Amino acid sequence: MSTSPAFIGEAASGKRASLLHFMTLREREQFSWMDLLWLAFLAGLAILPPIEEIHKQFILLAIGVLQLLEGRLIAYFPTRGRHYAVLLKILLATLLIDHTGEVAITSSYYPIYYLPVVTAAIYFGPWGTLVWTAIASAAYCSYLYPAIQQYELTTSAITELTIRILFFFLAGVIVNRFAVENRRQTRRYQMLAEELEKTNRRLEQIQVEARRSERLAALGQLSAGLAHEIRNPLGVIKGSAEMLQQKLQDSNPLASELASYISSEVNRLSALVTRFLDFARPQHLETAMHSVADVVERALKAVAAQWTGPAIDVERKYEFDVPPVPLDENFCEQVFINLAQNAYEAMTDGGNLRVTIRAAQRDHVRGVEVQFSDTGPGVPEELREQIFNPFVTSKKSGVGLGLAIVSKIVDDHHGALRLEASSGQGACFSVFFPEAGSAAEPSPSRAVEISGE
Ligand SMILES: Nc1ncnc2c1ncn2[C@@H]1O[C@H](COP(=O)(O)OP(=O)(O)OP(=O)(O)O)[C@@H](O)[C@H]1O
Ligand SMILES: [Mg+2]
Repeated sequence: MSTSPAFIGEAASGKRASLLHFMTLREREQFSWMDLLWLAFLAGLAILPPIEEIHKQFILLAIGVLQLLEGRLIAYFPTRGRHYAVLLKILLATLLIDHTGEVAITSSYYPIYYLPVVTAAIYFGPWGTLVWTAIASAAYCSYLYPAIQQYELTTSAITELTIRILFFFLAGVIVNRFAVENRRQTRRYQMLAEELEKTNRRLEQIQVEARRSERLAALGQLSAGLAHEIRNPLGVIKGSAEMLQQKLQDSNPLASELASYISSEVNRLSALVTRFLDFARPQHLETAMHSVADVVERALKAVAAQWTGPAIDVERKYEFDVPPVPLDENFCEQVFINLAQNAYEAMTDGGNLRVTIRAAQRDHVRGVEVQFSDTGPGVPEELREQIFNPFVTSKKSGVGLGLAIVSKIVDDHHGALRLEASSGQGACFSVFFPEAGSAAEPSPSRAVEISGE
């Protein structure tokens, strides 16, 4: 019996596709070998009496052709092809026994009905097998009517007929059991292969990321050293520029103005270097139990105080019974300042910043979650994966270190930082700090929630 290509499933891509292609080829090889055997058996039936019965030979030929083309028939009619194949086999079997016996129902070729029965058992589930076996049996029994017109129906004839039909069902059920099991195994292997492929891809991705992290770490060390060395001469330049500015104030106003440019640019450079060193410098946390709300409040006040842009409405949603968590309050204030600052800067036409604090649980670890949700344009899709990396910025005057610093600090607290899936408007960042004594692993703290768009 041929195996249907439909069981093999559609090859999707890559290795899986080639694996399935290989399987298909293998099966096709077996298929042709089995088909030769098939034709040999049919030829055997053809040379057995009644040899001169031309109809019988044609029907056997038709059965052979159907067997050879069954795969194509099913590929051509993916939904109904299997039904057609079984139905055609029942029709051919019924015709065959009509042309191979004096009285059709007594034809020695009746086992030809095993063909549609076994085919149905392979293609369908238990119920489909039973229904098709019943149809095949009914087709066979249809010859009972002309037979009883001529002969008397004896008890032994009824017994014989019942035995034959019961054997049809028996064969159908047994083959179906194995076929179903076989299909289940195939599906399981397919799923395993897919799972394996996914894991492989993830592993490759992790390897690429690890190599990138190594390069970044080396680069980070180098630049931190460089930044540190730049800071001292910057101090000297700044001091000298200021002195020049004072000295030349009256005698040479142009030179004094130029000196003031030097001084203000040095200020900018020095702020940048300080920010970079904040990021690169190893941090020594001094954690103590703190109320997250207090730290958040301080950060919000600090950001609002130096904000000169359009009006931003801050909405606070703090849960009452949020437990204190171990925090380094200065570092955490930096976390919240950066998140609030980003939200303020994102809402160029003003808007609403909602800050939520609540008790939460992540990966079976209890703690506190703080969410900053704004009504700005949100984080562009192409930036979502990268914004936690250093020097990723979409702002003209941005350094791109804010979220990298946040991520590092949250990591050091064994917490988690997440950019929530965009829900249409604005960006929503959530920070999770575990409670004291929670067995939180220092797992990767940053994540981008992509689903739920
Ligand atoms: N609330 C937000 N809404 C929209 N985009 C945001 C938001 N927060 C961060 N981003 C995006 O992420 C990028 C990185 O932010 P990050 O704070 O790391 O750097 P930055 O704000 O550009 O510079 P700085 O180092 O001065 O903070 C931003 O440039 C911006 O594109
Ligand atoms: Mg920022």
